[in-house]
Amino acid sequence: MITKNGKTVQLTGRNISYIMIENNDGDLLHFHFGKKLPDCDYADMEDEWSENLGLTSNMVSLDVYPQEYPAYGYTDLRCPAYSVMNKSGSSISRLRVKEYKIREGTADINGMPHLYAGNKSAQTLEIILYDDKTGLEASLFYTVFDEYDIIARSTVIRNRSDAEMTIDSAFSSSLDLPIGDYEMLYLSGTWGRERDIVKTPLKPGIKAEASNARGGSGHEINPFAIISRRGADEDTGEAYGFSLIYSGNHCTAAEADRFGSLRVRQGINPLGFAKTLSPGGEFYTPQSVLCYSRGGFGALSREYHDVYRSNLMTSKWTHESRPVLINNWEGTYFDFTEEKLLEMAKSAKELGLDLFVLDDGWFGRRDSDNSSLGDWVVNYKKLPSGIDGLAEQINKLGMKFGLWIEPEMVNPDSDLFRAHPDWIVHTPGREPAQIRNQYILDLSRGEVCDYIIGAISAVLEGAHIEYIKWDMNRQMTDMPRPGYNHEYTLGFYKIIDAVTKKFPDILIEGCSAGGGRFDPGVLAYAPQIWASDDSDAIARLKIQYGTSMCYPVSAISTHVTVSPNHQCGRITSLKTRGDIAYAGTFGYELDVTKMTAGERAEVKAQIAAYRRIQPLVREGDLYRLQSPFDGNYCSWELVSKDKSGAFVFACKILAVAQSKDARLKLRGLDENKTYVDRASKKRYSGALLMNRGIKIPYAMCDFATVTMELEAAE
Ligand code: GLA
Repeated sequence: MITKNGKTVQLTGRNISYIMIENNDGDLLHFHFGKKLPDCDYADMEDEWSENLGLTSNMVSLDVYPQEYPAYGYTDLRCPAYSVMNKSGSSISRLRVKEYKIREGTADINGMPHLYAGNKSAQTLEIILYDDKTGLEASLFYTVFDEYDIIARSTVIRNRSDAEMTIDSAFSSSLDLPIGDYEMLYLSGTWGRERDIVKTPLKPGIKAEASNARGGSGHEINPFAIISRRGADEDTGEAYGFSLIYSGNHCTAAEADRFGSLRVRQGINPLGFAKTLSPGGEFYTPQSVLCYSRGGFGALSREYHDVYRSNLMTSKWTHESRPVLINNWEGTYFDFTEEKLLEMAKSAKELGLDLFVLDDGWFGRRDSDNSSLGDWVVNYKKLPSGIDGLAEQINKLGMKFGLWIEPEMVNPDSDLFRAHPDWIVHTPGREPAQIRNQYILDLSRGEVCDYIIGAISAVLEGAHIEYIKWDMNRQMTDMPRPGYNHEYTLGFYKIIDAVTKKFPDILIEGCSAGGGRFDPGVLAYAPQIWASDDSDAIARLKIQYGTSMCYPVSAISTHVTVSPNHQCGRITSLKTRGDIAYAGTFGYELDVTKMTAGERAEVKAQIAAYRRIQPLVREGDLYRLQSPFDGNYCSWELVSKDKSGAFVFACKILAVAQSKDARLKLRGLDENKTYVDRASKKRYSGALLMNRGIKIPYAMCDFATVTMELEAAE
């Protein structure tokens, strides 16, 4: 709901209020984002507007007022939400309220993925701000949903002057929080170790920036952060989430000012960015989804999971049972024949798998990673029946067929590059860098995007393909101009949007050298994303736990691979690998023909278990019980929305005798229900499970895991 009382405008969600006040000079001040407040005019509480605690009046300036979209240099000297240089060479501006507009539904972000209303009630407020000295205009968009605790923000910058203007930075959101003791949590990592949880205190005078300027959203820093009040933890305390629906260079920055009030900005990374606007021109920022929780990080994550599953992800597969897949990559790498693949597929079918995915190496002359990206035609030497013939044979076995593709890339050794050497991202006159022996295609060019859409369409129309793994295996260098990365990102959305619209039934799995582009922008099109190239089960504890801070577990692709693990050499049992992979979009990635009879029986049981657990993975609430970042244990629980069922997972990483931590208190159940453990048939009250807890019967070994499926008794 959006209401306007005098100079106060208020957005009301399920439990939250977001309140702004226009002061007598027309500046747009921020008043409150947090638990719901009465819907009224706060203009008469002028003493409460500023964070000025006893300063003399000659120091009163915008510097001590919380604001909605602050500028630098006009009495506010903190980090600004935007910086636009006008024809005089000055970037000074003062945006003041011109108009308020309210409409039903969500905001449109001009070619970028964003939240949609679906069957939920949503309203959008547009506040138009204008600087009459320069002709700079900005529209601030705020979407609120009746049943969520989120505010989705984005901005449009317009040039209403008669000369060019250059945008040096334009954040999607800027939030000024009152004086307090805050901490920032962000997700950092690298290839094979994506989304580690890192926390840093924000002391007065500190600027903390979680940003990435490597091309995609990146392995290194995810476009997500939590700002919490000191003392907040998984289950209690105040936490603010910031999640950017964007797949390019991004930045979430927090500045604790000299008093301890906090400014948090999120949007496109200003590093390497600039955009020149002609008179009449406009620029749209991506959408930044803000969330407020009084129930700690856990409640905040569950809110993002719900919002993204219901109002961001557009694939028809989002709420459908996903096929349990077998991918050949770690089983064969590039070294396969048609015969070998069919042997693997037959064996996988006997195990009960649904989908056979052929990974890298099926096209051009690709037997290693040094050639053929861009030449999306089958290698008949390897696959004499072609992709269509292979798909047909796999379909005959009773399995779906899926294919790997890396459409944004080209190898110098490819027919595509030989025909169009100028189609790559490069700076004229400079030798472009190769990473993994490949260049990036220039998606700022319409004809390149059209070519890629045509190439993908030809592959998908040429055979019965029901799934694609859409990879992107390098970082971006040699950008020809400031702001190029954003142009590229828009090109990527144009392609993936066209492909998903043309082939709405195909299940797309996102991928970027593992989890290098695990972001809400990709999620809007691909309901599952490969989380990391490190498929080791124990490494995955942290990767999956960290990823779940923002992303639903149904989006996290998790595969059982061989032991010793190829990435880190660790030896784990098949049970441990399966138990950890259950909390995601489950599959196998190994040569199943090499498994023993005992292992095959275990795999059959795992697949059957996953089919029971999958509805909880897809639609349930996640409760993180023990963090692998805090010690030797990791556990989580998935509970159905109606609390009639739950899946519990617990892991003791290294063996410990007589561990006091082997008792677990569950969460999210109904205290008044009785739950039956599917395996032991033991009955427990919800109250006991949550308040006294139960013993976890760990085996006496490293990497011991326990799972439990609970069903409410009739
Ligand atoms: C990336 C992916 C892997 C695999 C290879 C193929 O690294 O993350 O899963 O598909 O590419 O080259």
